[in-house]
Amino acid sequence: MEISLQQNVTLSEPCACLVLACHEKGRLPANAKKIDELSDGFLSRFLAHGDFTAEPGQCQLLYAVPGLAAERLLLVGVGAGEKLAEGKLQKAARALGQTVARAQLTNLHLALADVAVAHRSSAAATELWLRGILDAQYRFDQHKEPAKHPRHSLEKINVLVHEKLAAEAEAEMQQALSSAIAISRASDWARDLANQPGNICTPSWLAEQATQMAQARGIETEILGPTEMEELGMHLLLGVAQGSRQEPRLIVLHYRGGAADAAPIVLVGKGLTFDAGGISLKPADKMDEMKYDMCGGAAALAAIQAAADLALPLNVTAIVPASENLPDGQATKPGDIHRSMAGLTVEIINTDAEGRLILADALSYAKRFNPDVVIDMATLTGACIIALGHQTAAVLGNHEGLVMELLHAGRSSQDRAWELPLFEEYQEQLKSPFADLSNVGGRPAGTITAACFLSRFTEEYRWAHLDIAGVAWQSGEHKGATGRPVPLLVHFLRQRAKAD
Ligand code: BES
Ligand code: MN
Ligand code: ZN
Repeated sequence: MEISLQQNVTLSEPCACLVLACHEKGRLPANAKKIDELSDGFLSRFLAHGDFTAEPGQCQLLYAVPGLAAERLLLVGVGAGEKLAEGKLQKAARALGQTVARAQLTNLHLALADVAVAHRSSAAATELWLRGILDAQYRFDQHKEPAKHPRHSLEKINVLVHEKLAAEAEAEMQQALSSAIAISRASDWARDLANQPGNICTPSWLAEQATQMAQARGIETEILGPTEMEELGMHLLLGVAQGSRQEPRLIVLHYRGGAADAAPIVLVGKGLTFDAGGISLKPADKMDEMKYDMCGGAAALAAIQAAADLALPLNVTAIVPASENLPDGQATKPGDIHRSMAGLTVEIINTDAEGRLILADALSYAKRFNPDVVIDMATLTGACIIALGHQTAAVLGNHEGLVMELLHAGRSSQDRAWELPLFEEYQEQLKSPFADLSNVGGRPAGTITAACFLSRFTEEYRWAHLDIAGVAWQSGEHKGATGRPVPLLVHFLRQRAKAD
């Protein structure tokens, strides 16, 4: 897949498919006007039929347009307003991607720079158009019979701009292209890891995949097993893993793109490769989807990949505690008490609240790297889906500035998050009569009390937590991992790289 910028274009060059935007009610943006002239009014006559209304999300392929050297014309509706709203852009970009994928187009000339988008530069809008297209190309079909008629996938996109851009605008545009490529590559990898079934994607398999990715990029890797965990006193992580025949792993990657003495950004991701709930067994309905309980871990690893591919001048460390959570004669039982690496003891009231346990020990491990900030992401609570649905991740943290940065990165990447409060009062719900902490806080505010639990292990550094339970995968007809929050993380890192 190759994307390149083409300046000084006239739109009369031959190509396989020219992509153009149209407004509602026949109003034409600059490029469409040009094409209308070249085709002797064909476009206006087509739009006058009114079948294609150009509302955001509508797309239309036209063939053999008179006067055009392009073999196909693909029209994208962008609505009525002067400026396209951010959410509408996402809808239009997604629809464009689906049309391109369905028609199995292999080459595109994208002439969408004339669409003004609210609160976004033309480069930032271009990144979102490209991501919509690339996102829709994703398939996970490696376990299916090879098709008789192989699919054609996209090979080349030319991003067209009329004028010769000034140096700064050109640099910004090039950055948008490389960013779109890095984000889609990283989130596709995260999706591949997550879509893999639990009988393949085990903790040791995940560690191998991470190691391969890291070795290809010269990224330093440490993989810890049960012996090292025992020595470190990681009994929360070991306690979750003890009901499984698969050994747990702690996967640690260090990307060093920054100064040798620059404190790292540490990304901690929940890598629960299958969550049956343990002795507090989950109901059978949709239990297969608990193979996705490692999406936070996959995102942390993928963010490291993107940082390396973009050669960001930062030090970034990923830590992924990986384990299964299964019922077994050896499994942790409700009421058992385990001691964390940090020394706090935890009464395990519900073995299905396992994510916070493995994260707690990983967050304690993070301390040794003297982090600048620590961000964890986890498919942590069903309650988060009740609070925010499948659109928005929850963010909570102990440092307002860091939370703001993440909210901003969520907005700029269209991979949005919203803050929930971490008020002191919620800590009450985690009291245990027999240990320092209970691992559950009851039904009210489940996402907040889970974050409160984590906050007890992150007091010594700036920390924020993303609960991605609602956004990491889709159920139903389009079942599959989404790759979120990789876009948010990459925007966060890019922003950090700029500020440094
Ligand atoms: N991995 C689940 C959370 C989850 C459930 C995410 C469904 C997405 C969809 C987590 O380990 C879990 O089971 N959490 C429990 C916590 C409860 C026992 C306090 C939950 O949310 O029910
Ligand atoms: Mn669970
Ligand atoms: Zn879980």
